[in-house]
Amino acid sequence: MDIIIRQVMPEDLDAVARVEAVCFPEAEAAARASFAQRIQAFPESFFVAEKDGQIVGFINGCVTDERMIRDEMFEDTAYHKPDGAYQSIFGLDVAPEWQHRGLAGDLMKHLIEDARKRGRKGLILTCKEHLIGFYERFGYRSLGVSQSVHGGAVWYDMILEL
Ligand SMILES: CC(C)(COP(=O)(O)OP(=O)(O)OC[C@H]1O[C@@H](n2cnc3c(N)ncnc32)[C@H](O)[C@@H]1OP(=O)(O)O)[C@@H](O)C(=O)NCCC(=O)NCCS
Repeated sequence: MDIIIRQVMPEDLDAVARVEAVCFPEAEAAARASFAQRIQAFPESFFVAEKDGQIVGFINGCVTDERMIRDEMFEDTAYHKPDGAYQSIFGLDVAPEWQHRGLAGDLMKHLIEDARKRGRKGLILTCKEHLIGFYERFGYRSLGVSQSVHGGAVWYDMILEL
């Protein structure tokens, strides 16, 4: 399909924010300013999928020693610990017209492989109930309902131990 997965670059900011806005309801979508900070703070754990020069999906998250994501982490890059034990996933997005082709899977496998190479203990994320099965396919297991109240939704903590 000729898709390239590569590390994010500062000039991807607008495209990334656009994909986020079509993938998530307003209350849950991360703002452009938030992506600007993340791109600066942890570009090495922020990967985009590019097709013919266009960003069609991405995956990103800070690194932490904690086994669960807390809401504060989404908005404050000071929580990023480059040498931490767990790679978190704040967001996995694929633009609607590019969904159902395995792209999210490719992005996820890329980040898992990267975390393995860096010697992380595992990866953590929060997701809605209907996506638990999707993440289980990569080896994640649910730790139950998360304390997160992000966007007023109910989230589940998931962990993949490497
Ligand atoms: C979730 C999302 C990233 C998936 O992207 P995608 O590129 O379509 O995913 P893939 O093609 O790699 O994988 C989809 C496949 O996973 C499997 N799958 C999906 N949900 C599943 C579930 N609950 N249980 C088991 N398998 C599941 C199916 O085989 C599905 O194939 P299908 O799309 O042909 O039905 C995309 O729909 C998206 O961006 N949604 C909006 C944002 C979002 O909710 N992100 C997740 C944040 S927690």
